[in-house]
Amino acid sequence: MIREILIYPDKRLGIVSDEVQTFDAQLHTLLDDMYETMVARNGVGLAAIQISIPQRVLIVSLPNEEDGTQPKEKTLEVINPVFLIQEGTTSYQEGCLSVPDVYEDVKRFKYVKIEYRDRYGNKQIVESDKFLAIALQHEIEHLNGHVFIENLSFVKRKKFEKAWRKKYNL
Ligand code: CO
Repeated sequence: MIREILIYPDKRLGIVSDEVQTFDAQLHTLLDDMYETMVARNGVGLAAIQISIPQRVLIVSLPNEEDGTQPKEKTLEVINPVFLIQEGTTSYQEGCLSVPDVYEDVKRFKYVKIEYRDRYGNKQIVESDKFLAIALQHEIEHLNGHVFIENLSFVKRKKFEKAWRKKYNL
Protein backbone atom coordinates (compact mmCIF):
# COMPACT_ATOMS: atom_id res chain seq x y z
CA MET A 1 0.00 0.00 0.00
CA ILE A 2 1.30 3.42 -0.93
CA ARG A 3 1.37 5.67 2.11
CA GLU A 4 1.42 9.43 2.46
CA ILE A 5 4.84 11.04 2.78
CA LEU A 6 5.25 13.81 5.35
CA ILE A 7 6.47 17.07 3.87
CA TYR A 8 8.86 19.46 5.64
CA PRO A 9 8.31 21.28 8.02
CA ASP A 10 5.90 18.65 9.41
CA LYS A 11 6.78 18.39 13.12
CA ARG A 12 6.69 14.60 13.03
CA LEU A 13 9.88 14.64 10.94
CA GLY A 14 11.61 15.87 14.11
CA ILE A 15 10.70 12.80 16.16
CA VAL A 16 13.57 10.54 17.27
CA SER A 17 12.46 7.08 16.17
CA ASP A 18 12.38 4.08 18.52
CA GLU A 19 14.24 0.81 18.09
CA VAL A 20 12.28 -2.09 16.63
CA GLN A 21 11.72 -4.82 19.25
CA THR A 22 9.69 -7.39 17.33
CA PHE A 23 10.42 -8.58 13.82
CA ASP A 24 6.91 -9.62 12.94
CA ALA A 25 4.37 -9.46 10.10
CA GLN A 26 3.54 -5.85 10.97
CA LEU A 27 7.18 -4.88 10.38
CA HIS A 28 7.20 -6.77 7.08
CA THR A 29 4.07 -4.90 5.94
CA LEU A 30 5.71 -1.63 6.91
CA LEU A 31 8.82 -2.51 4.84
CA ASP A 32 6.70 -3.60 1.87
CA ASP A 33 4.65 -0.39 2.03
CA MET A 34 7.82 1.71 2.31
CA TYR A 35 9.19 0.06 -0.83
CA GLU A 36 5.95 0.68 -2.77
CA THR A 37 5.79 4.29 -1.59
CA MET A 38 9.45 4.99 -2.41
CA VAL A 39 9.22 3.51 -5.91
CA ALA A 40 5.95 5.32 -6.65
CA ARG A 41 7.66 8.61 -5.81
CA ASN A 42 10.92 7.82 -7.65
CA GLY A 43 12.98 7.92 -4.48
CA VAL A 44 16.17 5.99 -3.74
CA GLY A 45 15.63 5.82 0.00
CA LEU A 46 12.96 6.22 2.66
CA ALA A 47 12.84 6.25 6.45
CA ALA A 48 9.75 5.01 8.32
CA ILE A 49 9.20 8.39 10.00
CA GLN A 50 8.62 9.87 6.54
CA ILE A 51 5.37 7.90 6.47
CA SER A 52 4.61 8.80 10.13
CA ILE A 53 5.98 5.60 11.70
CA PRO A 54 8.55 6.50 14.40
CA GLN A 55 10.60 3.31 14.20
CA ARG A 56 14.26 2.85 13.33
CA VAL A 57 13.54 1.39 9.90
CA LEU A 58 14.89 2.58 6.56
CA ILE A 59 15.26 1.29 3.03
CA VAL A 60 17.69 2.17 0.26
CA SER A 61 17.36 1.06 -3.36
CA LEU A 62 19.87 2.27 -5.90
CA PRO A 63 18.48 2.15 -9.44
CA ASN A 64 20.01 -0.41 -11.81
CA GLU A 65 22.54 1.40 -14.00
CA GLU A 66 21.23 -0.15 -17.23
CA ASP A 67 17.45 0.19 -16.99
CA GLY A 68 16.86 2.33 -13.90
CA THR A 69 14.73 -0.31 -12.20
CA GLN A 70 14.75 -0.82 -8.43
CA PRO A 71 14.03 -4.51 -7.85
CA LYS A 72 12.66 -5.29 -4.43
CA GLU A 73 15.14 -8.12 -3.89
CA LYS A 74 17.99 -5.62 -4.31
CA THR A 75 16.49 -3.15 -1.86
CA LEU A 76 18.44 -2.84 1.36
CA GLU A 77 16.18 -3.09 4.43
CA VAL A 78 17.94 -1.64 7.45
CA ILE A 79 16.54 -1.87 10.98
CA ASN A 80 18.12 -0.46 14.16
CA PRO A 81 21.32 0.66 12.38
CA VAL A 82 24.44 1.50 14.38
CA PHE A 83 27.59 3.07 12.92
CA LEU A 84 30.71 0.98 13.55
CA ILE A 85 33.06 3.12 11.44
CA GLN A 86 32.72 6.60 9.89
CA GLU A 87 35.77 7.88 7.99
CA GLY A 88 36.81 10.62 5.59
CA THR A 89 34.61 13.30 4.08
CA THR A 90 32.75 13.75 0.85
CA SER A 91 30.06 16.04 -0.51
CA TYR A 92 27.09 15.16 -2.66
CA GLN A 93 24.00 16.90 -3.98
CA GLU A 94 21.17 15.30 -2.02
CA GLY A 95 17.43 15.37 -2.32
CA CYS A 96 14.60 14.05 -0.13
CA LEU A 97 11.01 12.95 -0.73
CA SER A 98 10.00 15.06 2.29
CA VAL A 99 11.59 18.16 0.75
CA PRO A 100 10.46 17.83 -2.89
CA ASP A 101 12.45 19.46 -5.69
CA VAL A 102 15.25 20.72 -3.46
CA TYR A 103 18.80 19.53 -4.15
CA GLU A 104 21.69 20.77 -2.05
CA ASP A 105 25.28 19.74 -1.41
CA VAL A 106 25.73 18.10 1.97
CA LYS A 107 28.98 17.06 3.65
CA ARG A 108 29.05 13.41 4.75
CA PHE A 109 31.51 10.74 5.81
CA LYS A 110 33.10 9.09 2.78
CA TYR A 111 33.15 5.60 4.25
CA VAL A 112 30.75 4.03 6.71
CA LYS A 113 30.41 0.58 8.22
CA ILE A 114 27.04 -0.13 9.81
CA GLU A 115 25.61 -2.97 11.84
CA TYR A 116 21.86 -3.51 11.57
CA ARG A 117 19.07 -6.07 11.67
CA ASP A 118 17.28 -7.42 8.64
CA ARG A 119 13.50 -7.97 8.55
CA TYR A 120 13.91 -11.28 10.40
CA GLY A 121 15.99 -9.77 13.18
CA ASN A 122 19.29 -11.23 11.97
CA LYS A 123 22.43 -9.16 12.49
CA GLN A 124 23.93 -7.86 9.25
CA ILE A 125 26.81 -5.59 8.26
CA VAL A 126 26.93 -3.13 5.38
CA GLU A 127 29.87 -0.99 4.36
CA SER A 128 30.35 1.45 1.52
CA ASP A 129 32.47 4.33 0.28
CA LYS A 130 30.16 5.01 -2.65
CA PHE A 131 26.71 6.57 -3.06
CA LEU A 132 25.23 3.92 -0.79
CA ALA A 133 27.23 5.39 2.10
CA ILE A 134 25.64 8.80 1.50
CA ALA A 135 22.13 7.38 1.18
CA LEU A 136 22.51 5.45 4.44
CA GLN A 137 23.72 8.52 6.32
CA HIS A 138 20.83 10.57 4.91
CA GLU A 139 18.24 8.00 6.03
CA ILE A 140 19.80 7.41 9.47
CA GLU A 141 19.62 11.16 10.00
CA HIS A 142 15.82 10.87 9.55
CA LEU A 143 15.72 8.25 12.33
CA ASN A 144 17.34 10.84 14.61
CA GLY A 145 14.72 13.47 13.77
CA HIS A 146 16.69 15.48 11.23
CA VAL A 147 16.34 16.31 7.55
CA PHE A 148 19.26 16.99 5.23
CA ILE A 149 18.61 20.71 4.82
CA GLU A 150 19.51 21.16 8.50
CA ASN A 151 23.12 20.60 7.41
CA LEU A 152 23.18 23.68 5.18
CA SER A 153 25.15 26.78 6.06
CA PHE A 154 23.24 29.54 7.87
CA VAL A 155 22.95 31.65 4.71
CA LYS A 156 21.87 28.75 2.47
CA ARG A 157 19.37 27.57 5.06
CA LYS A 158 17.82 31.03 5.32
CA LYS A 159 17.51 31.20 1.56
CA PHE A 160 15.90 27.78 1.48
CA GLU A 161 13.41 28.62 4.24
CA LYS A 162 12.34 31.81 2.50
CA ALA A 163 11.77 30.06 -0.84
CA TRP A 164 10.00 27.16 0.90
CA ARG A 165 7.61 29.42 2.82
CA LYS A 166 6.74 31.18 -0.40
CA LYS A 167 6.21 27.97 -2.34
CA TYR A 168 3.90 26.43 0.29
CA ASN A 169 2.32 29.68 1.55
CA LEU A 170 3.53 29.01 5.11
CO1 CO B 1 15.16 12.09 3.15
